[in-house]
Amino acid sequence: MNYFLNMNYFLNMRSLTKSLLTLVLAGLALSLPASAGLAQSPSERGRVLLSDNCARCHAIGKTGKSSHEAAPPFRAISESFDLDDFATRLERGLTPGHPDMPAFKFNEEDAHAVSAYLRTIQE
Ligand code: HEC
Repeated sequence: MNYFLNMNYFLNMRSLTKSLLTLVLAGLALSLPASAGLAQSPSERGRVLLSDNCARCHAIGKTGKSSHEAAPPFRAISESFDLDDFATRLERGLTPGHPDMPAFKFNEEDAHAVSAYLRTIQE
């Protein structure tokens, strides 16, 4: 008798574990696209990168002033740089022309994302 009770318990635990596992896997599958950034376009990704790394000094939108008065707004950047070259510059590492500006280096994908975004805001 005892043996059967134990057996039942064991079987129940097994199916419980199985449904829990299914739930967890389903949850993972649902949350993956968002966290892996698969739904993000290059220019959206570029905007996030600039917002994280540059926005505390440069204006990164179509309007608005830079927080750092000497930092040019990015919507005017094509006046100083060819945006095709700019991605390459970002990959090689941007050397700051100003003591306040830290040096930056982007990988190829990020550099192209940044220049894709910059194209969308040029005036
Ligand atoms: C701490 C402030 C600060 C941060 C953060 C910063 N910059 Fe700058 N940046 C400046 C300043 C100030 C200048 C103006 C330099 C000068 O006039 O010589 C500048 C100039 C530039 C220029 C030259 C613009 C031109 O028209 O000559 C580029 C390009 C640039 N920054 C890109 C970036 C990028 C890309 C990031 C983020 C990855 C960034 N900066 C982050 C302060 C900053």
